[in-house]
Amino acid sequence: MRTSCKIATTLLAASLAGTAFAQLKPDDYVLFRKGTMQGQRYYLTPIAQMAQGKLAYNKDEAVMRATRLRHMIEVHLDGFGPGSEGASNTRTTAAAFSDRAKLVDANKTALAAADDLVKAAQAGTVDALKPAVGAMAKQCDSCHESFRSR
Ligand code: HEC
Repeated sequence: MRTSCKIATTLLAASLAGTAFAQLKPDDYVLFRKGTMQGQRYYLTPIAQMAQGKLAYNKDEAVMRATRLRHMIEVHLDGFGPGSEGASNTRTTAAAFSDRAKLVDANKTALAAADDLVKAAQAGTVDALKPAVGAMAKQCDSCHESFRSR
């Protein structure tokens, strides 16, 4: 027990040291913002299916997914770091960098829609879920319209 604990601590220290000195590259930002987008799709899709009657309604599942979707939205803008504009593997448009204020605003509006979705999920009925899912999806589309190329 003691030895394994010591090994774990040593490994952790080594990996943290590695992290502290490893500079994030443009690719890391692109992977992060795509990953958090995939995360948003991952958490939202089953909630949307519940609202459409394609998946059995489950309140706890809806609350869990809405809460984690909100968190994904919260961290998404961390993936727009230096040098990641115009990377070869990105669909983010130049506007995301030249008009950062508008991007931040779009993310804030999406976050507010996610807050409403969490509340709707907590309300515990499919009927409460429906309009909140629609409003959330509208924010996904709206931001893509402005900041994602086709
Ligand atoms: C604040 C703006 C913004 C919001 C809000 C937003 N997206 Fe995105 N989304 C983007 C941008 C920018 C990209 C392009 C990322 C890239 O390729 O660098 C993207 C890409 C994606 C992708 C493709 C990811 C990949 O692997 O290439 C998916 C899926 C996606 N978004 C889903 C969603 C869903 C679902 C929502 C709503 C819950 C959402 N997005 C809300 C800006 C946004």
